[in-house]
Order: sequence, then C-alpha cells, then structure tokens
Amino acid sequence: MEIITHITDVINYIHVKKVIGREIGFVPTMGALHEGHLSLVRASKNKELLTVASVFVNPAQFGPNEDFHKYPRPIENDIKLLESVDCDVLFLPSVEEMYPETPNIQITMPFLTQKYEAEHRKGHFEGVMLVVSKLFNIISPDFAFFGQKDFQQCAVIKQMVKDLSYPIKIEIIPTVRETDGLAMSSRNRYLSEEERKKAVGIYQTLMYIKNMVQHEKNTKNLLRHAYTFIEKFGFTQIDYIDIVHADTLETLQEAHFENKPVMLITARCGTTRLLDNMYLYEQ
Ligand code: PAJ
Repeated sequence: MEIITHITDVINYIHVKKVIGREIGFVPTMGALHEGHLSLVRASKNKELLTVASVFVNPAQFGPNEDFHKYPRPIENDIKLLESVDCDVLFLPSVEEMYPETPNIQITMPFLTQKYEAEHRKGHFEGVMLVVSKLFNIISPDFAFFGQKDFQQCAVIKQMVKDLSYPIKIEIIPTVRETDGLAMSSRNRYLSEEERKKAVGIYQTLMYIKNMVQHEKNTKNLLRHAYTFIEKFGFTQIDYIDIVHADTLETLQEAHFENKPVMLITARCGTTRLLDNMYLYEQ
C-alpha cells in the first residue's frame, strides 16, 4: 500500500493511474478503523477500483466541547488493517496540509442540516461538507463509499454531490454490527464494561419497532413504544428518536413501505454518544 501525506503527491499519483484507465474508489475516514470501515474498502475493491482510503481527524467537524484531541489515532494498526484488505493507497495528510490557513469558504445546507445531528453538534455538517469536498477535489474519485451508520451524513453528502455537480457515484454500505447487534464505531472503545452491555439497547429498540411496524403504522405510537422500550435498558439521555423519510429526512406521520421509513436513534451511554438507524422495511 502506498502511504501519501502530501496533496500534490496524491494528485500526481492518481493522475497517472487515471491516464492508464484506472477508475478510483475513495473511502474517507477519521481512522481508528474497524470492520465497518473495512467493509467500505472491500466494497470498493469488489468493484475493481483503485482504492484510496484517507485517514484524517478533521478538526472542522468537532465542536469546541467535543473529543477532537481525545479522538483515538492508532495509525500503525490502521495501516495494518488497510493492508489486510488490500487497500491501494492511504492518504494521510496532517492538519497543516489540509488547512494551511483558516478557510474562508463555508458550505451550508439549511434543508438537511437543521435537525438530528445538526441540532446536537453545531457546525458539524459544515465541517464534514468542507473536508469531504476538499478530499473529493484532491482525490477526484469515480466512486466514494459511505456507511449507512451515519444516515444523515449520507443524505448530506448525496445532496452536496448533486448540488455541486461532482461527477462521483456515492455508494452507501450497510452498517456492520458486533455479534450482539451494536453498530461498530470508533467511539465504542470509550464504553465501560457496564455501558457496553447497555449499549445493545439501541439495536434492540430498532428491531423491536421494525417488528411492530407490521401491525402499527402510526409513528407517534411507534415512538412512544420506542422511548418506553429503550428506557428499560437504562438509557436516560436520548438525544433523539424519530421515524423519517429515507431521502428527505422529513418526519413521517405514518410508517408505510412507500414512504421509505427509517428510524433514527441517538442516545448517550455515559459520555459516549451512540448513533444508529434502521430501515423499517427491507428496501
Ligand atoms: P468515520 O466516523 O471514521 O467514518 C468513516 C466512514 O465509515 C463513514 O462513511 C461511516 O459512516 C463509515 N462507518 C462507520 N461505522 C460503520 C459501520 N459500523 N458500518 C459501516 N460503515 C461504517 O464519518 C466520518 O468518519 C467523517 O465524518 C468523514 C466522512 C471521514 C469526514 O471527515
């Protein structure tokens, strides 16, 4: 695997590959890799794309009281994991390389970034859009791979690609879970043993409502059941639970197959925020 730290070097490297007809698959990450990230790399490799992963903990998407400095950075292990799935290139820029000066441009998307993560993490999606658009410009991939785990992020990126006419196909990859159903996340390592046990309550709640939707379509009732159910696991700080349209993220009154209902849950387990979501009908 090539490890490239400078923007000009990665641009040149990719240019040469494109000239000889290779298509590029791109997997942006913040490192602390796990099977979820690796599934994105595998999806790219399965398409026979020259696969570039980036590891960059992006300061622009962390709020002032968030875990930017504490965010795990096990880069040696990340390199081993990327090599194990035959990733072709790791783009590993420094903060100075990506942000030599405070950027003047701001990207906003009022329509999809009012609620949910945006409400709880001010400026988060603006930071995500900025870094992803910079990375898209640097890597110029044909395909880019994102995880369904971050459902709102997927919606925002798809919209950004449309609005800014990026010639990039966005592939959304299903959430990879631990054997008990907990969605894999770099932040799961913050959980104590006790919190780790409780964390499964999020997946259990999603499954409970997914079964219930067979005979109950009213989302107010479904949400009431969801809150009662998740609280039994000992969750006291629930940032949000909602049932939304998969494309518009608009809150649904009724959860019918045709309105592509997705349930979003974000709750705190100790100080760790856990995000998850599930389509209530198989798509
Ligand atoms: P990060 O949290 O490192 O995630 C990188 C990618 O891996 C995202 O597309 C995320 O949705 C996906 N991912 C995380 N957990 C997953 C799981 N359990 N199953 C499948 N995919 C999973 O998301 C970011 O970084 C950043 O916001 C980034 C897009 C890199 C911009 O900085």
